Amino acid sequence: MQLETDSTHEPGVHYDQIGNRYAHRRQADPRIERQLLDALGPARSIANVGAGSGSYEPSDVRALAVEPSWRMIRQRPTPGGVTQGVAEALPLETNSVDAALAILTLHHWRDLGRGLAECRRVARDRVVLLTWDPEAPGFWLTDEYFPDILKIDRRIFPRLETLRRHLGPLEVQPMPVPADCRDGFLGAYWQRPEAYLDPQVRAAISTFTRIHGVTERLADLKRDLSCGRWRSRHGFLFARETLDVGYRLITAREASQR
Ligand SMILES: C[S@@+](CC[C@H](N)C(=O)[O-])C[C@H]1O[C@@H](n2cnc3c(N)ncnc32)[C@H](O)[C@@H]1O
Repeated sequence: MQLETDSTHEPGVHYDQIGNRYAHRRQADPRIERQLLDALGPARSIANVGAGSGSYEPSDVRALAVEPSWRMIRQRPTPGGVTQGVAEALPLETNSVDAALAILTLHHWRDLGRGLAECRRVARDRVVLLTWDPEAPGFWLTDEYFPDILKIDRRIFPRLETLRRHLGPLEVQPMPVPADCRDGFLGAYWQRPEAYLDPQVRAAISTFTRIHGVTERLADLKRDLSCGRWRSRHGFLFARETLDVGYRLITAREASQR
């Protein structure tokens, strides 16, 4: 299987190409939202960096969204409160918000160090991140059907030690994925294998656009589902309500707030 190169990727442009109907499949999951709100703590103003279509933006705080892709911006439920821009040059004043929030976006940033320095610059109190730990094991989808996704994700998602280098001490909590997760990111359908056969589901997961040979691997999955092989290997997952597939909720407090 051949890997697609990332070299032509401009911030946001990728999502201008693939982000159509993103908001339809990537809706806030209430259990993930609860954990994020806890991590934001007393913040009354937030910068939502790489905000996409605005999932998880708390409604009762002042939220300033920054997002490079117009296609994503257009899918926000309400106009306003958003500026087109990138993490590496946040269009916000220094110390202008209590918290910077970045959900499943770090792996798209051109310059992670610069983007995180920008988050620290604008946030008085804390930086809250939801990301995937590249040192976590994969799960059946990536282990058995799409090892190239695992390979790419291990390269593009930052390691915790890298985040520590940029942000200082971190609080790291696992973000277990509910079996009926409403937010359709890559690991969301660990208990609903048929979902990955749906092109609309895959269209909301950027890594599927970075690999070749998707049709062949989906045919393997479809065959294993119909002959019962998938169920015999992974049927034990139906007894679970959540699964830790490597997503992590990370909080970095400014030194003065620790
Ligand atoms: C997987 S989406 C996540 C969107 C949103 N945070 C959510 O949870 O639904 C990743 C987002 O990062 C944005 N992005 C890409 N490059 C970026 C950059 N350099 N700075 C900020 N956001 C960026 C993309 O346009 C896209 O909207």
